[in-house]
Amino acid sequence: KKIVVLHGPNLNLLGTREPDIYGREMLDDINNALREKARDQGWDLQCLQSNHEGELVDAIQAACQDGTSAIIINPAAYTHTSVAILDALNMFKGRVIEVHLSNVHQRERFRHHSYVSLRADGVIAGLGSQGYQAALDSIMTREGQSRA
Ligand code: DQA
Repeated sequence: KKIVVLHGPNLNLLGTREPDIYGREMLDDINNALREKARDQGWDLQCLQSNHEGELVDAIQAACQDGTSAIIINPAAYTHTSVAILDALNMFKGRVIEVHLSNVHQRERFRHHSYVSLRADGVIAGLGSQGYQAALDSIMTREGQSRA
């Protein structure tokens, strides 16, 4: 029972990066809370942040091979540019939830379009770090249910 959480470019600076938009919480705090919540329910949750598109593609390819059930991904700026990340996610058989800390639809026009949304089963934007928790809840709740 494995879940992978992927964070795209500049999210390593969470907490200090434009805190009015992205909040004051650090990435490690978000990841630790997710890992703990998952562990309580018997899930293994692994987190990766990368500023490099190819490294995120590699991580998605690895998730396709190792029995990962779900991917939670905040592709950050790659959301709006990356066909490579979309293509990698299209090979993944499990659930994909796209998360954005900010409400991208309230911001510049170029943030309104997401390549990743073409594949994502669910999209959460504008709830800050709570969005990741909601994504995790939805994955773990759904897994416990039989699929009709
Ligand atoms: C973001 C929104 C993106 O437009 C931006 O490039 C980011 C973060 C968010 O979490 O709100 O880096 O994905």
